[in-house]
Amino acid sequence: MKRIIALLLLAAVLLQCTPAPKKAGINRKSGLVAQSAMVVSAREEASEIGLAILKEGGNAFDAMVATDLALLVAFPFAGNIGGGGFMVYRLNNGDCGAIDYREKAPLAATHDMYLDDKGEVIPGNSTLGAMAIGVPGTIAGLFAVHEKLGSFPMEDLIQPAIDLATKGVVVSEKQANRLNHYKQHFNTANGRTILLDKEWTAGDTIRYQELAGTLTRIRNNGKDEFYKGQTAQLIVDYVQQLGGILTMEDLAAYEAKWRTPITFTYKDNKIIAMPPPSSGGICLAQILKSIEPFHIGQYKQNSVQYIQLLTEAERRAYADRAHFLGDPDFVDIPTDSLTDQAYLNRRMADFSWDKATLSSDVSHGELKGYESNETTHYSIVDSQGNAVSVTTTLNGAYGSKVYVAGAGFFLNNEMDDFSSKPGTPNMFGLIGAEANAIAPQKRMLSSMTPTIVEQDGQLKMVVGSPGGSTIITSVAQNILNVLEYDMSMQESVSMPRFHHQWLPDDIRFEPGFDSLVFAPLRELGYLIDLSNSPIIGKVDAVLVLPDGTLEGGADPRGDDKAAGF
Ligand code: DON
Repeated sequence: MKRIIALLLLAAVLLQCTPAPKKAGINRKSGLVAQSAMVVSAREEASEIGLAILKEGGNAFDAMVATDLALLVAFPFAGNIGGGGFMVYRLNNGDCGAIDYREKAPLAATHDMYLDDKGEVIPGNSTLGAMAIGVPGTIAGLFAVHEKLGSFPMEDLIQPAIDLATKGVVVSEKQANRLNHYKQHFNTANGRTILLDKEWTAGDTIRYQELAGTLTRIRNNGKDEFYKGQTAQLIVDYVQQLGGILTMEDLAAYEAKWRTPITFTYKDNKIIAMPPPSSGGICLAQILKSIEPFHIGQYKQNSVQYIQLLTEAERRAYADRAHFLGDPDFVDIPTDSLTDQAYLNRRMADFSWDKATLSSDVSHGELKGYESNETTHYSIVDSQGNAVSVTTTLNGAYGSKVYVAGAGFFLNNEMDDFSSKPGTPNMFGLIGAEANAIAPQKRMLSSMTPTIVEQDGQLKMVVGSPGGSTIITSVAQNILNVLEYDMSMQESVSMPRFHHQWLPDDIRFEPGFDSLVFAPLRELGYLIDLSNSPIIGKVDAVLVLPDGTLEGGADPRGDDKAAGF
């Protein structure tokens, strides 16, 4: 009997060994194709508002501001001014850059602020309510982008969100389910938000009058309204009333930072991704460069070998993430060493096709010298060929659930992205070390991975995802889907995904995988968690097709939508 099972397993493995067809098939499902410009985001309203700016002659950065603020209104789950984010851009002349408007720890934050007197993490303090809030960066980021790269007056970019908030947003079915599910937590965190008003059903309209007022003040008074003005005062008064430590000084001191993107090659492609305080760029580089020598494209996508190879690269990259990465303004990050091909080859040297490496046997390298989708990503290409890749977040769903009274928006719970205690996992199961310990004014490590791919010196793809720790692996799989398996952008974002992050030592799969892969993987020693098959990532991307037109990939896991002309 054992022999038969072994033979069946072998047959299943061999079945998966069939060389990969280079084309994804005849019935290729294409996303929206547009001649000139495109926005793909989590909500139709936001994509359309961004597109309207592009049609009027605004550039990708103008569209970014308008889309971002529209998401604040239409997608309060993650769209925000009470959180932060990252943007990676590529101009049509090939110049690229990145901006970091990640939240920071308040001045009164301390290394052990989430620990009790026995040194144990106090459950919930870094995730729910006023103590979980980091100093928000989104408004500083949008104004910095506009100042450097925008072309329209800022007022014209804010106005559409004011109009949307006033007119109201029609609730989708997914949104109604989310709102009804999270209501209990809104109550725990702060008492009142208009989102508590009723049991929501698809088709209801929510009007955000207070938020329209806040956006109008920001339109009239600029960035200082949020960081020094009436809105700042509303935030601080409310957070302190709820027992939080945020001060006017914290807000006044906040600044977004321009950073140099991580750039690396994968075959003949140049990848442009977010540097620390995101772990995204470094981990993405580690994963793709670790698998490059193995020519993954020879194996069928999502076959046993494909999953093995990617899992082993992910395992090693996430182990390094946990040890080395943090805010570059506070810790030295050995980026060059971590992304060096020889180092990555050494890291993969003990990988075997015959047996899984156990995470307990993998630590960070020696250098010479889990959840749902609560962040949001959007991708924009304008008619001049400028590209913008933005991921922005409140961290958890509706962030800390604290909804600023009188100002009408949620504040983040980004403090949970710090390592509260070395070795104790955060809400994404991520382990951190001293490099990501809490310190006043420090930025917490992120996994957000807004990314741009260039091929032969031309723009090829704009891509990114929400999904906490699973963001990096979702982005990596989409890059491989397109570059190695020649999928359309829509096919790629729709494909089921899997994830491994070193610890916990298991592979998570979305529904939709060929069940034939599980037994051989288990036989090889991989631990597979099918008990919880969540959504992994929600990818919104744009692909430049060979004829120069743009194809949008809008993730069917959400209400996401591509809009183009
Ligand atoms: O910055 C990070 O890595 C997290 N705060 C992102 C959170 C996220 O994607 C939530 N969605 N699941």
